[in-house]
Amino acid sequence: MTYLVLKAVHVLAVMLWVGGMAFAHFFLRPALATLAPPQRLTLMRDVLRRFFGAVLVATGLVVASGLWMIGRVARQAAQGGDSFAWPVDWIVMTAVGLLMVAIFGHIRFRFHPRLSRAVDASDWPAAGAVLADIRRWVGVNLVLGVALILFVVVH
Ligand code: HEM
Repeated sequence: MTYLVLKAVHVLAVMLWVGGMAFAHFFLRPALATLAPPQRLTLMRDVLRRFFGAVLVATGLVVASGLWMIGRVARQAAQGGDSFAWPVDWIVMTAVGLLMVAIFGHIRFRFHPRLSRAVDASDWPAAGAVLADIRRWVGVNLVLGVALILFVVVH
């Protein structure tokens, strides 16, 4: 039962994170392209602040639930007198998952504060450049996330 709850939390948090990136990348950004830079960049700063707050919680839940599931399986193996060997797909998921969290940390704690400062200073060229960096790294995480889901589910 606990394992199923952990897995449900894990998958729901992944959906919020990866689904949110797809929404921002493919639907929100193109729809805002017609706005003037002051409106577009201010709106993107505010939308991303809310989204990154939710993703911060989601990444914590993804990592905690994932490691907790691994811990439970390892403990059960030890109680049954068996040795625990990490399945290959769990190793790949942990490695790529931690890489995605590191990239997100970079976006949230390095680029977003810069975007905020540039918008507050009405420095639109600087804000546009930082937003392009954010878009690039969100794109990297989106590709990693989709590839990882396909690997884990189809593997
Ligand atoms: C530190 C990071 C992570 C760890 C330790 C971890 C660990 C796990 C574990 C132990 C399971 C249960 C597998 C099973 O019961 O067969 C699982 C399921 C899953 N994980 Fe992760 N995970 C991590 C990150 C991610 C990320 C970043 C994604 C996607 C972007 C992801 C997507 C999934 C999916 C879709 C499942 C369900 C697979 C299925 O039932 O077929 N995980 N994860």
